[in-house]
Amino acid sequence: MRALLAACVLAMPGMAPAGDFFTLKGHGGPIMDIAVSPTGQIATASFDNSVGVWDGKTPRWLEGHRAAVNAVRFMGGFAVSAGDDFALELWDLATGDETRLEGHRGKVMALDVAPDGTIASASWDGTVGLWKDGAPRFLEGHAQGVNDVVFRADGQTLYSASADGTIRIWDVAEGAETQLLLRHGFGVNEMILTESWLAYGAVDGVTRVIDPVTGDKIADFSLDRRPILAMAVSPDESRIAVGDGEGFIMVIDTTTWKIERDFRATARGPVWALAFSPDGENIHAGGLDDVMYSWPIETMDQHGQMTTGARTFLEDPATLPNGERQFKRKCSVCHTLTPSSARRAGPTLYNLFGRRAGTVEDYRYSPILTGSDIIWDEDSIDALFDEGPDHYIPGSNMPMQRIVKRTDRDDLVAYLKKATKPEGGN
Ligand code: HEC
Repeated sequence: MRALLAACVLAMPGMAPAGDFFTLKGHGGPIMDIAVSPTGQIATASFDNSVGVWDGKTPRWLEGHRAAVNAVRFMGGFAVSAGDDFALELWDLATGDETRLEGHRGKVMALDVAPDGTIASASWDGTVGLWKDGAPRFLEGHAQGVNDVVFRADGQTLYSASADGTIRIWDVAEGAETQLLLRHGFGVNEMILTESWLAYGAVDGVTRVIDPVTGDKIADFSLDRRPILAMAVSPDESRIAVGDGEGFIMVIDTTTWKIERDFRATARGPVWALAFSPDGENIHAGGLDDVMYSWPIETMDQHGQMTTGARTFLEDPATLPNGERQFKRKCSVCHTLTPSSARRAGPTLYNLFGRRAGTVEDYRYSPILTGSDIIWDEDSIDALFDEGPDHYIPGSNMPMQRIVKRTDRDDLVAYLKKATKPEGGN
């Protein structure tokens, strides 16, 4: 089976096998965004700080971001990505050259590219960035972070959606807001824009289609599954796909405005990233897993779910000692216990005890951790999860996570002590 797929990929360089269910493996953390080129080439943006550009199933890694990557788009022979390091990276796919675009003062959550090559960026600093040749412009007007940006097909008008609950329209040449299209009340996360409709998804689970000029309602698909985290449109605009925090992917037919499929894609956890194949037959999806899944829409429900946490549950969790279970559930998606960090989102915890923070060689830390004088031992690891990384080491790239129960922390630390020992790691 694997050999067959490999042969089929070799025959079509740059192409993923079409019409089949397949997965792309190699990232070391959750997949946050997916882009598809007109020829079907796939790019993935990951929490592991890298962008994968896939030649069939073989990844090429674009490394340059210093934190999680939230967005990626193709543009001609280039790719552009953006992330939690407040920066955009422009990648020349032929030479591998990288240009860093800086100026945002918050995480960058989404990107779009106009036909003339102007890049728009949505940032939690509350601005929309416009990047073209010279100095960037930053459009101000939203009261909170901007979650998404989309150009109209002509590239002269831009729509932005924000945590402040509004969708605003901007004149790109003027850099000025021309219309407040929508006040939703809850944060708007995602938008799809065509010439005749705009679909949006919000924090409160609302999925709605409106007229892109008047804001009048065209259709509503809210199923009370919150929040809406991903949306994609097929290249011929005949279908949209919607992914939510409860792990469903809903496919909507835009000619009839009917729900065509509603598929539970993950046993638990979010669908963060969605994209269609160029023929519109497959949906590529990403979530908490470090794997990208691609389902043929016709047979989606016959191929099972994303294995969110499956690696963690290969053994029956009930039979694992508590410390090991804590690690497998809460840490192993981002950390190995082997000498190599293996491209996971965080550094290996191999040989952790007595180690100074920020010193694993094959891992690129945030400056906060590199400059820290913390030594990892029972007490500091306990404090890290008693207070939560956001309090114990503010500004680091560790996700917010507390382990509230003292016995759980004790068991975890005891397990780590054993499992991170150079001769005891596995
Ligand atoms: C979603 C990913 C993720 C999860 C889950 C996660 N971590 Fe981390 N962890 C990171 C990242 C990213 C860093 C590096 C932070 C930086 O560079 O600022 C890190 C750093 C660390 C460090 C510091 C290591 C060093 O070399 O200085 C320790 C210790 C740690 N994590 C322990 C844990 C434990 C224990 C758990 C489970 C309870 C856990 N982490 C869960 C992503 C994660």
